[in-house]
Amino acid sequence: MKDFLVFEGISKSFGDISVVNDLNLTVNQGEVFSLLGPSGCGKTTLLRICAGLENPDRGRIILNGRDITALPATKRPVNTVFQNYALFPHMTIRKNIAFSLTVSRTDKRTIEREVDRVLDLFQITDQADKIPAELSGGQKQRVAIARAIINKPLLLLLDEPLAALDLKLRQKMLIELDNIHDEVGITFLYVTHDQGEAMSLSDHIAVMNGGKIEQTGTPVQIYESPKSSFTAAFIGDTNFLEGTVKSQSEDGKYSTLEINGLPDILCYNDQPRQEKDLVYLSVRPEKIRISRNGITPESGANVVQGIVEDLVYLGHQTKYWVRCGEWLLMAAVSHTHFMEDEKTVAKEDPLWLSWHGDDGFMLHKYREIDEAMLTNPDIEVENDVEPEAGT
Ligand SMILES: Nc1ncnc2c1ncn2[C@@H]1O[C@H](COP(=O)(O)OP(=O)(O)O)[C@@H](O)[C@H]1O
Ligand SMILES: [Mg+2]
Repeated sequence: MKDFLVFEGISKSFGDISVVNDLNLTVNQGEVFSLLGPSGCGKTTLLRICAGLENPDRGRIILNGRDITALPATKRPVNTVFQNYALFPHMTIRKNIAFSLTVSRTDKRTIEREVDRVLDLFQITDQADKIPAELSGGQKQRVAIARAIINKPLLLLLDEPLAALDLKLRQKMLIELDNIHDEVGITFLYVTHDQGEAMSLSDHIAVMNGGKIEQTGTPVQIYESPKSSFTAAFIGDTNFLEGTVKSQSEDGKYSTLEINGLPDILCYNDQPRQEKDLVYLSVRPEKIRISRNGITPESGANVVQGIVEDLVYLGHQTKYWVRCGEWLLMAAVSHTHFMEDEKTVAKEDPLWLSWHGDDGFMLHKYREIDEAMLTNPDIEVENDVEPEAGT
């Protein structure tokens, strides 16, 4: 069912601060829908509004054809899983999971059968008689989710449910969550600031920024065709270059861009462009190839020359920051096979970068974007290096 969950013009302020701003969103039945955005953009507030824990100042929420805006939290067919598990510390796992059924006075036999079923589904049957403190983080999170689905809500809200777990466990739990979703068929509204989680789990993603939705789409649409510089920069790494449309190819499929200090750059038109349009060209680092000896351009490829300003070996790939005039471009080369040539690239070396005209995309220069985004942040370098530090 389309339009299973609809947010219509939802706004919420705390004092003078507008946290959710005339937000519209539609979720289909049975899908995993992620709200993805930086910390403080209003994700938790929107989830709490959906759960009935917070009242919106304006707007309506429709769930399964019914306006639930005025319905108290306990009357909504919605359960929430929080980051910190929120289990009852003195109850056994079995009692924790059975809680909502006990409250709704389900008969004992049904409760036992259902609890056994989800214990099995979550592979925690042997933990059933322990208390939460005796469980690991991953096991506790499984219990929290088991408890939230046992009474078969129409909608499960998950607020950064994996944030407290370490990376390896997070990746394992992502696969489990995916399996559980397939198994139970409940609609998931999943909140995260982690693009990897959102990309791997979701049918659709809404990118949220400053209390508004920037873009909604499938993971592929969000990554390959971002509609704003915010989305392009927030989802994965990207290079931004400012330019002007100089001309159109005869078939209208490509623009030639004039970019300060670089040769003419070819870029695929995702929409009709006009001469003199001001645009940002965005190229993902993994789409850029490198060469130490100059590149003979294949047809449709762009080639620019620069000087290596920095490089970081990350095991699975190497990242190169290459100064091309006023632009600092990042290229990420995957180590699909051992290449002696790459091993010998050093700082200050000249390097040729190339990418196909189909592999960049243009964004309308409709508003200012962070200076930091344009000059390719040092922050990125530090973030990426951290896990390897000391090796
Ligand atoms: N109860 C509250 N009172 C005042 N400010 C709040 C309250 N809840 C959230 N905020 C503020 O609203 C903004 C968005 O918060 P939140 O929805 O938690 O964002 P996110 O989950 O995306 O990190 C933050 O600036 C936060 O400080
Ligand atoms: Mg939050």
